[in-house]
Amino acid sequence: MINWFPGHMAKARRMLDEQAALVDIICELSDARIPLSSRNPELDAVAAKKPRLLILNRVDLADPKVTAEWVSELKAQGTALIEVDARSGKGVANFPKAVREVLKDKLAKEAERGQTKPIRAMIVGIPNVGKSTFINKAAKRKAAIASDRPGVTRGRQWINVDAGLDLLDTPGLLWPKLTSETLANHLAFTGAINDDILDIEDIAAKLLVEIAAKYPQLLTARYKADDFTLEPHELLEAVTKKRGFLRSGGVPDTERMSRILLDEFRGGVIGRITLETIDK
Ligand code: G4P
Repeated sequence: MINWFPGHMAKARRMLDEQAALVDIICELSDARIPLSSRNPELDAVAAKKPRLLILNRVDLADPKVTAEWVSELKAQGTALIEVDARSGKGVANFPKAVREVLKDKLAKEAERGQTKPIRAMIVGIPNVGKSTFINKAAKRKAAIASDRPGVTRGRQWINVDAGLDLLDTPGLLWPKLTSETLANHLAFTGAINDDILDIEDIAAKLLVEIAAKYPQLLTARYKADDFTLEPHELLEAVTKKRGFLRSGGVPDTERMSRILLDEFRGGVIGRITLETIDK
């Protein structure tokens, strides 16, 4: 995982520019649990003249009611989108049709001229959003996808999705947008920022507080949490004790609890949670 120094961003940006030049459509993967922070508006500059499709991924982990609100809001704004769970493959079958719908005028013109070249598409997204998983599912294959690290160069390959649609096998890497603490926290909760560079207990405590604000009943059901007036680290400690994670001498092992909490959140074990709603 890359630490996002300006040099890395510039490299990723250059790579994206190169990739974008090769395709007819840019398909941006976002995380349905954090529909705001999992996108990076700088893609608009890279992809200024390219048709776009938004792929709302991880809908299996997100709160279905909030996802429905996001979908209708984004559609009202004119965003072409599909909802998918790339891990199970649910919704991925709608991808080719959605791409053709976005490109329908261009395809109609080409058909009039008797042109039949395949559509070329690429997937872009922030780290760990599910790009490789999606590409594999769309292409119905299991093979490993090329590294998406900036600076790794290799021959480009196209993966056949269907008879008229090819996907660039190397996804475009968008850098996480760390413009506010809240956005950065959300990216950390979902695993878009490497845990090694984070204070894991701090992140876990903040995650607990955010879940407590929106889905307290899930914290009660999973961790028997009952006092939501506690300060973040006190809440983490309370949950750690209830879970029985104690070091010798009865000291709560909050580090162990933090790792488990993040794993369970990322795996959907706590429940279906969306951290970003349309108005906030
Ligand atoms: P990337 O290329 O964008 O970096 O992401 P990648 O496909 O490697 O996916 C990151 C993790 O997210 C993987 O989990 C993958 O299974 C999971 N994932 C991707 N899409 C979805 C989805 O729609 N729903 C759910 N629930 N999970 C998704 P992992 O734990 O790293 O690997 P694995 O053990 O699942 O293979």
